[in-house]
Amino acid sequence: MPDEKTRIPIVAGNWKMFKTAGEAQAFAEKLLPQLGDLSGVEAVIAPPFTALDRLGRALGGSGVALAAQNVNAEAGGAHTGEISVEMLGELGCQYAIVGHSERRVMYGERSDGVAIKARQLQNAGICPIVCVGETLEEREAERTLEVVQSALTASLAEVKAGDGTEFVVAYEPVWAIGTGRTATPEIAQEVHAFIRATLRAQFGAVAESVRIQYGGSVKPDNIATLMAQPDIDGALVGGASLDPDSLAKLIHLAAEASKPGAS
Ligand code: 13P
Repeated sequence: MPDEKTRIPIVAGNWKMFKTAGEAQAFAEKLLPQLGDLSGVEAVIAPPFTALDRLGRALGGSGVALAAQNVNAEAGGAHTGEISVEMLGELGCQYAIVGHSERRVMYGERSDGVAIKARQLQNAGICPIVCVGETLEEREAERTLEVVQSALTASLAEVKAGDGTEFVVAYEPVWAIGTGRTATPEIAQEVHAFIRATLRAQFGAVAESVRIQYGGSVKPDNIATLMAQPDIDGALVGGASLDPDSLAKLIHLAAEASKPGAS
């Protein structure tokens, strides 16, 4: 098995429904001078759709990648209020989050639809970040692994996996999102290892190269211990990504964690 830390860590800020286009630009102006050398880490920001253009221009050439928070599964057509893969590609999105629990819980998204979105993104050269995670009730009923496995397998049913870079998985326990209640590194590692085993069963050896992010109350003071776990390859960060100093710290700490001998 290759050394797990050969996977480049990926830290993505998911801004959810926060920040106007102007605020996004001001954020980039504060963030970029703090970043310096980004080798050894991949940094991504997913602003609201309305800020993609402005943020993309502000980040241009910095090495920080642009992501969308969602996309429609259809290529185009009469879908009032929706955004297509092609529209994201033209704005320079390199990533798009699909199947976030807030979309699953509040907007009724299902894994079969997430699977189509992920495939469409891949076809357009955009890397899907596919989210899975259990609710508190499911964890308390000891159904975590079953829930994660079925959402993961169904959400990835249509994707290709070649060298492992074609998609990213984000494990986000719903009970840890925005609650300040982070999964302990051990709890997160247990599920991440299970996700990698599930990927191995579905895609074979390429699973060793797929990055699996943890999400749920990640902050500068807990990212290093999470990243020290063998199957945690980055973070999908909500609240702590809204402040440029905090996001810069998260990116630097993730880069440190990937250095040889760091774990
Ligand atoms: P918080 O970091 O605010 O808990 O949000 C996590 C999340 O949902 C990222 O997608």
